[in-house]
Amino acid sequence: MKIDINKASRILRNGDLVIFPTETVYGLGANANNQKAIERIYKIKNRPKYNPLICHFYNISKIKENFFLNDTALKLAKNFWPGPLTLILEKKNSSKINLSVSNGKKFIGCRIPKHPIAQRLLRNLNFPIAAPSANISNKLSSTNIGHLSKRLKENTFIINGGESEYGLESTVINAQNNSIRILRLGSITYEQIKMIDPNVIIENNIVSGLSPGLQKKHYSPNLPLRINVDNVYKGESLLNFGKNNLKSDILELNLSLNSNLEEAAKNLYDFMHILDESKSIGIAAAPIPNCNLGKTINDRLIRASSN
Ligand code: TXA
Ligand code: MG
Repeated sequence: MKIDINKASRILRNGDLVIFPTETVYGLGANANNQKAIERIYKIKNRPKYNPLICHFYNISKIKENFFLNDTALKLAKNFWPGPLTLILEKKNSSKINLSVSNGKKFIGCRIPKHPIAQRLLRNLNFPIAAPSANISNKLSSTNIGHLSKRLKENTFIINGGESEYGLESTVINAQNNSIRILRLGSITYEQIKMIDPNVIIENNIVSGLSPGLQKKHYSPNLPLRINVDNVYKGESLLNFGKNNLKSDILELNLSLNSNLEEAAKNLYDFMHILDESKSIGIAAAPIPNCNLGKTINDRLIRASSN
């Protein structure tokens, strides 16, 4: 696989968009200091302006140049960066990050991806990359470049990094002294965070509105999706999990025959993309245990099935 980091860097410097792999899902990146480039992201994704973008950095000293970190945020950063953690941090006035990433607000989502290609790209640049997931708003995220829609492919430079390692987005956290609020469940689980600090809660975003992008309907296929099923209707395809008696007369994909939640997380978007393109009238999804990564998978399935 030929990877042209220099070309991707030139394109980003120029204010254009690059799709790049991260360990969670593919990102649709732009120069975070460049307002026009950021506006291109919103336009191409059909993303509402009120939904802020995550800024990606090479390392923690780059983040400290731009943001204030309290002790709780630092503790989480030390444990989970580089990796699938996004912290909402307060921007310093000296930072050059353009506030169109966050609809004018100075609290911005920040993360240090650990994927080697994302790392090489960020090291090569003297600005952070603002990047949402590489998909049209509210549609399924992309865990390989085959998932990218025509509209994204035609208007961006793409770096192919194969399959995403985790397959679910980063965990978005608001960390205050003595309180950690999970704004979006992700690849780092509630249980993992609780081991580091017991003062953690999962925010109900529908009520709090703290994560403006998390509308009820999100991460969704085009076909109707039913979840937690105990039977599959004629004509439905099946997103299965573990060993059971469920059967489809169209197509069945099993997220993990051995009921392994990491494996299921990695397969989730890929299998939803495949079932979405099958000749079925809808997708039926088997129950997933609601613990560890199962909580994140269920969060995505609930949003994907809502209308
Ligand atoms: O794993 C990921 O997080 C991927 C990769 C590319 O890094 N990115 C990603 O970005 O999933 P996006 O834009 O699809 O989702 C970001 C989520 C949204 O739910 C958004 O509302 C929330 O993070 N978010 C971003 N900035 C925020 C902020 N300043 N305050 C509250 N929520 C924020
Ligand atoms: Mg997204």
